[in-house]
Amino acid sequence: METVKNKKRILAISGSTRRNSSNELILKFIGQHYADVLEVELYEGIDLLPHFNPDLVKENPPAVVIEFREKIQAADGILICTPEYVFSLPGSMKNALEWTVSTTVFSDKPTAFIVASASGAEAFQSLNLILTTIQAKIALDSRLLIQGVKGKVGPLGQINDSATRQGIDTLVNSLLNSID
Ligand SMILES: Cc1cc2nc3c(=O)[nH]c(=O)nc-3n(C[C@H](O)[C@H](O)[C@H](O)COP(=O)(O)O)c2cc1C
Repeated sequence: METVKNKKRILAISGSTRRNSSNELILKFIGQHYADVLEVELYEGIDLLPHFNPDLVKENPPAVVIEFREKIQAADGILICTPEYVFSLPGSMKNALEWTVSTTVFSDKPTAFIVASASGAEAFQSLNLILTTIQAKIALDSRLLIQGVKGKVGPLGQINDSATRQGIDTLVNSLLNSID
């Protein structure tokens, strides 16, 4: 077992702003279940980021944007978990990623992502394309689509489905391997 000083610092970003969100519960589950190897910080500010504006990128970016970028920069790895909204990424998730486009904070950054949704296939493809475009380092096993999420994640964040547990295990191991 790894010692505390070898824990990897992971910034976890949920694409859902909903209270008791399944996506946030999955991130919390990962933070608790893999606490011996991961130190997971849940990013709480996604709904406080202003709408992306290229003019603000050139001038002084808002403080919350600078802080968001710094958190990405400082983390050993990034873990995104998001639902699909109307066959795409939720606007808040896309907006957050747009604020990183003119920077290099995602370049070669070990990243894993989960789309946990009713269906989610379109958001999965879209997020994969966006993260690849901003040059995140994503191993093949660091991508997971959880369909029918409402039936797989209980109200306290328990993962009721063994295949989903296995998928999360594989994803976390893959993320850890891509950090070293
Ligand atoms: C505005 C809206 C649009 C949605 N569109 C889709 C969709 O296109 N595909 C899908 O799989 N689920 C869709 N859903 C259902 C979400 O997958 C489901 O609510 C999911 O549990 C949300 O994740 P959360 O529990 O983390 O908030 C939509 C939900 C909302 C509120």
